[in-house]
Amino acid sequence: MSTRSNRVVEFERQVAGVACTARAWASVPDAPSAEERHGLKARIKRLLTEQRGVLLAHYYVEGDIQDLAEETGGCVADSLEMARFGRAQSARTLVVAGVRFMGETAKILNPEKRVLMPDLDATCSLDLGCPADEFSSFCDRHPERTVVVYANTSAAVKARADWVVTSAIALDVVRHLHECGEKILWAPDRHLGRYVQEQTGADMLLWHGACVVHEEFKALELELLKKEHPRAKVLVHPESPAEVIRLADAVGSTTQIIRAAQSLEADEFIVATDSGILHRMRMLMPKKRFIEAPTAGAGAACKSCAHCPWMAMNGLANLANALESGANEVHVDPEIARLAYRPIDRMLAFAERRNVNVRASGDLAKDGALFQRIGPA
Ligand code: 13P
Ligand code: SF4
Repeated sequence: MSTRSNRVVEFERQVAGVACTARAWASVPDAPSAEERHGLKARIKRLLTEQRGVLLAHYYVEGDIQDLAEETGGCVADSLEMARFGRAQSARTLVVAGVRFMGETAKILNPEKRVLMPDLDATCSLDLGCPADEFSSFCDRHPERTVVVYANTSAAVKARADWVVTSAIALDVVRHLHECGEKILWAPDRHLGRYVQEQTGADMLLWHGACVVHEEFKALELELLKKEHPRAKVLVHPESPAEVIRLADAVGSTTQIIRAAQSLEADEFIVATDSGILHRMRMLMPKKRFIEAPTAGAGAACKSCAHCPWMAMNGLANLANALESGANEVHVDPEIARLAYRPIDRMLAFAERRNVNVRASGDLAKDGALFQRIGPA
């Protein structure tokens, strides 16, 4: 019988144009014993085979789940690749180990498939910080702007968007829209939004949201750590504050960070993203050394201590239970799903055209009209 620890997490939320602090909770399963882990992994493998299910895992979930995804022919990936890979599967069941928006995206792209998650309450501070009704009024006040939303949002927010982007493709999409003369309304991550704005020069109106993990990285302490490790290269996820991004040798999505570590001429790296990614990095590059970027220091509250409390809600026991009982199936209102499909599909088509780590699925390849529509939304 698994036990859980409840954590209260503070996050930023924009209400009537004003930023305020709100609270949410995360119920994290306690780690199973070595013996339990062994049994649970065997049970999950058997259930995936019996049900011809495919496991999609994000790099931030626990190492055992990442390994299971890899060993059973699923994927361990960033959010862009999770969406693409899920759609390319013929399996009837997709199991998404990540947070709620990832499960919803899988369902929107695959309405005919059953999408299960270990815990449907695994949310994200960016999603929580951008309620659909508030966001919709914000869009109504700026009808001249093209609405670009980050994938870390609810299906209802995506339904209001012209484009959905992930961190792997945000720069390319916004640069393209800027070249087409579009002004942009961006939500919800203000750090990523500011980074994209600086890099592209686009006219962007930003929602005031933040990730509870990345906003904790501290520039001053990072500079001190760099002094202690002068040969180390710094890898940063763009949800981090601007002062931290300025210290980076490479900035990108989780997959892009891993690729940078593989290609940069260095044997030591300081990594400013969720510590869950270190499992994969150490496995792929056993000779290189990876050091967590600092979250402590002056004014630090350690809300997340560099690990997403909602990603931590994915455990072996609730994953096995979801598969065994069919519980925790993701459902999206059909009308919202219909509206949200288009901006997600547009992103995948754009990524495929730009060769950003995705291949065309059958559906996209057939939809010639969509390819022609890529451009101003
Ligand atoms: P990636 O798309 O880079 O994997 O990021 C997802 C996420 O939630 C980062 O916090
Ligand atoms: Fe959301 Fe941050 Fe968790 Fe990613 S790490 S899912 S952005 S809260």
